[in-house]
Amino acid sequence: MSMISDSSAVLELQRILPQHQSAITLLNNMVQDPCINEIKWLDLACGKGQIISQLKENLSDNNRKKIIYDGYDINVEFTKIASRIASNLELRQYRFNHGDLSNFAVVLGVEKEFDFITCTNVAHELHPNAFVSLVLDSFKRLTSSGQLFIYDMESLTTPELGAFPLRGNEITSLLNTIFECLNTVYRVHASVWSHKTCKGWSIIINRAHISIENEIFDKEKKAITNKIKLKIDDIIQSRCKECVDLLTTYTIYGADTAEDEQLKLVALYEFWALHYARGGK
Ligand SMILES: C[S@@+](CC[C@H](N)C(=O)[O-])C[C@H]1O[C@@H](n2cnc3c(N)ncnc32)[C@H](O)[C@@H]1O
Repeated sequence: MSMISDSSAVLELQRILPQHQSAITLLNNMVQDPCINEIKWLDLACGKGQIISQLKENLSDNNRKKIIYDGYDINVEFTKIASRIASNLELRQYRFNHGDLSNFAVVLGVEKEFDFITCTNVAHELHPNAFVSLVLDSFKRLTSSGQLFIYDMESLTTPELGAFPLRGNEITSLLNTIFECLNTVYRVHASVWSHKTCKGWSIIINRAHISIENEIFDKEKKAITNKIKLKIDDIIQSRCKECVDLLTTYTIYGADTAEDEQLKLVALYEFWALHYARGGK
């Protein structure tokens, strides 16, 4: 896995983003369980801590004290900011670890399991192969009742060079390919959300619903990887055709309106992202 240099992380202390609101709602449900004293939460590619920035308002004092938060990111400067936020939340414990996402299980300890794993606004920054591999590694790190919450945009308001935003239907098809290979009847469906400036998708995966042991994941990993690679090649090919058709139209007829200009720009970024993704990074 490698990082794109246009990668950035937002931190707006005055507002909560809808994807973070959804994640915290799930978390609130977990910490409200009176039988539970401790929730282990792993926030993959946590950035500057936007998701925890309003936790004091979102969760009760007592329930925040149940949380053991692990933030993980490659960018040390980002996690310094997140750590400052976490230090004011009176959590049971918090830690930040650094490294590439492909290595998170090793950095955190391969036996470690989490009740809640979040991965928000990250998928577009990874090659789809790397993203699916991250999802597989995350399944294995869930406790038997653990939940994985993933959210990403279908298109970026500010385009980033090399970013490849997957669409809701593509992520649904990729993840269900994994479940087919695992021979389970479990299937997911990405919810697609139309926001004011972009569309996004979210997936929630509950480990209890998959009912597959880690050994089966390991046994099937090669078959899954091979099948996923073929699926991703198909996605790239079909998106390439779409993109080339659009750019051909603009080349011949021009982009007349401001909206056309914007679509042309997005298509040019997409063209580069597809070329980059074809390199298999
Ligand atoms: C758009 S930010 C999202 C931050 C946070 N999850 C949020 O929702 O606000 C993407 C984050 O992914 C991190 N990142 C990108 N590629 C990574 C990689 N290969 N390994 C680890 N972190 C990575 C970046 O450093 C950045 O903090």
